[in-house]
Amino acid sequence: MRIDVISIFPGYLAPLELSLLGRAADSGLIALRIHDLRAWTHDRHRTVDDTPYGGGAGMVMKAEPWGKALDDLLTLDPAPDDRATRLIVPSPAGRPFTQADAERLSRESRLIFACGRYEGIDQRVLDHFAERVTVEEISVGDFVLSGGEAAALVIVEAIARLIPGFMGNAESLAEESHHPGCGLLESPVYTRPATWRDLEVPAVLLSGNHAKVADWRRDQARRRTAERRPDLLHPSQAVRVEDLVDGTLRDEGAAVVRMATAGDAAELLTLQRACWVQEAQLNDALSLPALVESLDDVRAGIGAWLTWVVRTDSRLVGSVRAGLRGQTWHVGRLMVAPDLHGRGIGRWLLGLAESAAPDEATRLEVFTGAASASNLRMYKRAGYRPMREPFVDAEGREDPGVVRLAKPRGLG
Ligand SMILES: C[S@@+](CC[C@H](N)C(=O)[O-])C[C@H]1O[C@@H](n2cnc3c(N)ncnc32)[C@H](O)[C@@H]1O
Repeated sequence: MRIDVISIFPGYLAPLELSLLGRAADSGLIALRIHDLRAWTHDRHRTVDDTPYGGGAGMVMKAEPWGKALDDLLTLDPAPDDRATRLIVPSPAGRPFTQADAERLSRESRLIFACGRYEGIDQRVLDHFAERVTVEEISVGDFVLSGGEAAALVIVEAIARLIPGFMGNAESLAEESHHPGCGLLESPVYTRPATWRDLEVPAVLLSGNHAKVADWRRDQARRRTAERRPDLLHPSQAVRVEDLVDGTLRDEGAAVVRMATAGDAAELLTLQRACWVQEAQLNDALSLPALVESLDDVRAGIGAWLTWVVRTDSRLVGSVRAGLRGQTWHVGRLMVAPDLHGRGIGRWLLGLAESAAPDEATRLEVFTGAASASNLRMYKRAGYRPMREPFVDAEGREDPGVVRLAKPRGLG
């Protein structure tokens, strides 16, 4: 990759020639040239700025030296085709720079950075060169620097380390914060010694159990991201089964479980539709009650059954309901938001509904689709066994596509 940086403070960019980037330049991965804009001025004072048209504070960088500098770079040292050149203009008014931009730009063959100062560069420079090359105005954050040099340093460093061959261990890139593949912040990192100033490294990292380490890192990454960057991850997505607190006892904590009220009906309807789509696909049955119920039906269900909901950061993410019919405690409508599957929340909710069975109940019963393998597995692990009696729907018809499972009270 060829990188040119134009600035009135070329010395500011000296760090680009140091460290890893310097080595990449030496090895030929990156050809870096730093230019002094004043080399393209012709007056005694080497003037690069003037007062703004329309008045106002500050000075504006003149089009003339920029025009000549860019003409020279594009003609004296051309890329095979001008369109293969990107003119990057750091600007607080530009599009925010992201890791995805760094990845995209790391695949380009030529980048020219135009570092502004004062109130910026005369707009006509950007408009004129946009006819010839691709111009991108890029911001490195929602704050204002005095010049584009520090921004250019940031952008070049982020791009350079993604060029194949630049990093000794390219695998480490995949686990980093903002990697487009996962979009989370990286979990905290530790190295020897295991105890430092009475602070211990989390025990799981010393366990040698790779699966547990991976789980821990994923969980930490989710928590950090949800806490620090809710714009990247809704806080509810960091919830763990350990976080669930019974909201009927204490209405606090990040994840509260409490009895549903009519006010939950709309979200419950949305969640149950989302949760039963897969069930419908697996069992080839589109008319499952949970999928076709209306808002009024769901509201009526809340009145007819004991229904619990899990709320985390104001989002309804799970529910279960139960009720006594004869001496059987029926548990159903067990649902967890699809993005939170695999965390044990469903199993926890099942336990909660079971533990509410009244004394009269002698057995517990659930049902699920005959093709719903993971539901069947969960119920069997919880001690339920398939029943011989067929499932009968609300209209009194037998449905062989549904399996009833039961267990005696107090088992599992
Ligand atoms: C003082 S700033 C000009 C700010 C400009 N008047 C405005 O309000 O948008 C001078 C130069 O610093 C650079 N700069 C300042 N903040 C930046 C940021 N957040 N990202 C990228 N470049 C920035 C740009 O090159 C800009 O031309």
